[in-house]
Amino acid sequence: MNDALVQRLRKSLGEREGSSLRRQLVARTADDARVNLADNDYLGLSRDPVVVAAGVEALRTWGASSSASPLVTGYTELHQRLERTLAAWQGYAHGLVLNTGFAANAAVLGGLPKEGDLVLADRLVHASMLEGIQASGARLRRFPHNDLDALELMLHEEPALGGVIFVVTESVYSMDGDGPDLRRLASLRKRFGFCWVLDEAHATGWYGETGTGMQEHQGVLAAADIVVGTLGKGLGSQGAYVLSHASEVRDALINFAGEFVYSTYLAPVNAATALAAIGRVRELAVERPGLQAMSVEWRDALCAAGFAVPTGDSPIIPLILGDSDVTLRFATALRSAGFMVSAIRPPTVPVRTGRIRISLRRGLTATSLEAFLSVLKGVSR
Ligand SMILES: Cc1ncc(COP(=O)(O)O)c(C=O)c1O
Repeated sequence: MNDALVQRLRKSLGEREGSSLRRQLVARTADDARVNLADNDYLGLSRDPVVVAAGVEALRTWGASSSASPLVTGYTELHQRLERTLAAWQGYAHGLVLNTGFAANAAVLGGLPKEGDLVLADRLVHASMLEGIQASGARLRRFPHNDLDALELMLHEEPALGGVIFVVTESVYSMDGDGPDLRRLASLRKRFGFCWVLDEAHATGWYGETGTGMQEHQGVLAAADIVVGTLGKGLGSQGAYVLSHASEVRDALINFAGEFVYSTYLAPVNAATALAAIGRVRELAVERPGLQAMSVEWRDALCAAGFAVPTGDSPIIPLILGDSDVTLRFATALRSAGFMVSAIRPPTVPVRTGRIRISLRRGLTATSLEAFLSVLKGVSR
């Protein structure tokens, strides 16, 4: 290996090490029985018997791989059924399945905005959205997190450019578990005519009468021009999708997005499990208010124990602890007490906002909450 390269890599890894920020892979074992407060399988659907059975059947029918990119032979009847089901469920005319949420955001935001356009993005949008925007050549302005007054001001400030203005937000932010007022965004969109790209990754399954997400929950179903969602979180599968009202968005991705064109397509088994999961999500309508109530209960209990967590009812609770070494101390104590937790540190989150990202899931018990609190109380800050 080239020596200069190895030295360079060693230096940047050493810098991470020095500030307790070096990332390490830890392989999870199949028999890990710790209480899982780390993954994004909020409804536990990855192990739901109906979902698993659909996967087994698809494996028998289609094999383990799609075996080619979608424009060759990778696109199957299952993918087609899935994109149509997703679009109809969420109130859109067109849907396209992509391999990951990261690829979907990078494809949409890397491909649709062009030089001469302007993208106004929330300060905390996901890395995949940012990567896309930065690759697009469009001008980027970021507004303070969830601050729609600031967004409105920017919309007033920007002269009519001739280009397209995109507004990019999430509905539930992945590291903070909060989100903007979608009703106000919908009305701003009507007033200013921008193209609104909304990432619903962490809201699907948890919110909405039929479980589509936060647009449904806030009474503005299908208000965004383009929705990006993932199959790998609340739906317990793997993969992602892009929904739009205009067929041109789907056609542009099929024609121009390298992430779609030049990659072996999502395995049919993932499409089958996602389809089964959508059915389960719909059936869980009666449980959804209880899931949101659980989030409120955990937040209240954490506040009562002296931890400043924001109010809300999403599945993600940021337990912000500050410096990376303090965050790691809490994570280590929780792990050894039987909790699977992730310590989120910069650069994933802003400096000195290291946190345990508590990820709630269906089926968590009051006993888990009590045990969790008692571990927290025993760690020095
Ligand atoms: C808001 C958001 N969008 C997109 C993604 C990427 O989705 P995927 O895991 O399917 O690549 C993530 C992943 O964590 C996310 O938090």
